[in-house]
Amino acid sequence: MDLPTTTLGHILLVGPADAAPELGAALVAKSWRCTRCESPAGVLRRLRSEPDVDLVLLTPQTKPGPYIELCRHIKFDPRTAFVSVVFVLAPTDASRRAETFAAGADDCIPLPAPAGEILIRLFNALRVKRATDSLEDATAIITSLANAIEGRDAYTRGHVERVATYCVEIGRRVSVSQEDLSALRTGGIVHDIGKVAVPDQILNKAGKLTDEEMSIVKRHPIVGHDVLEPLRTFRNVLPLVRWHHERPNGSGYPDGLHGDQLLLLPRIVAVADVFDAISTARSYRPACSSARCREILAAAAESEDLDPSLVAILLDMLDENPAALVDTSVESVSA
Ligand SMILES: [Fe+2]
Ligand SMILES: [Fe+2]
Repeated sequence: MDLPTTTLGHILLVGPADAAPELGAALVAKSWRCTRCESPAGVLRRLRSEPDVDLVLLTPQTKPGPYIELCRHIKFDPRTAFVSVVFVLAPTDASRRAETFAAGADDCIPLPAPAGEILIRLFNALRVKRATDSLEDATAIITSLANAIEGRDAYTRGHVERVATYCVEIGRRVSVSQEDLSALRTGGIVHDIGKVAVPDQILNKAGKLTDEEMSIVKRHPIVGHDVLEPLRTFRNVLPLVRWHHERPNGSGYPDGLHGDQLLLLPRIVAVADVFDAISTARSYRPACSSARCREILAAAAESEDLDPSLVAILLDMLDENPAALVDTSVESVSA
């Protein structure tokens, strides 16, 4: 089977120069860019300073232990986890294949193996890496879009970052999983992405919105959901985007969910979103003082407009560090 002849990617060979010596030459001949480290020491630092490395090829000649440890560090560190790691094991170490996979290796090839098969398996590992890169790219594009949309409204600059921060802190305090914390962070950033469909004159209007303008604004959770739905990487944040304006008492939109129908994570986003809205200035009113924020939140908890237990957590956060959460220099407002 012929491999593509264009440059494939950057491969970092780690191991003594005399381990699999013909492999480096074969890789270069097949248009890989190859660099080498003689031992596992220093590889992590190198990966962090050379983000263009696509694949680490570990070729321990003897004693694979430090190489397996290196693999674990690469695959379990979020900064390097997307780099592919492939082992080529000497025949005497073939029994340690399972350990390499437990350490997160993408593939492990025991020798002897035909050079052609090794090259194809490396190419396959690179294909997976490329697919992951494109998911990362999609995430970066959507995040930029979310920030660009927010930038259209002079009064909400920083809103999505703050909402994400509050969401994660509330989530941490109710002990959600790491996966849910990550969804809260991403969901906080993208929750208003559907505002891409709201015209500037409505977004920046100083006075009260007409019923028709309000109905356009109220479409943004569904628009956001529809924008993100085709992207697999955003699947777990869809409920946060669609339901961040739903209310436990059933008064929210767009689906009018009620009680237990409304999941925990969208409830958290709702609390964070409302708090940021009242604690910062808007085109139609100044920011509320800390005392006024407390009154509004307490009333919302009382009427179950917001989840009372989550509001209690936010109030604790306010008690602990009010200056970090609210501009305490602002005047109290009555509405
Ligand atoms: Fe919103
Ligand atoms: Fe928002």
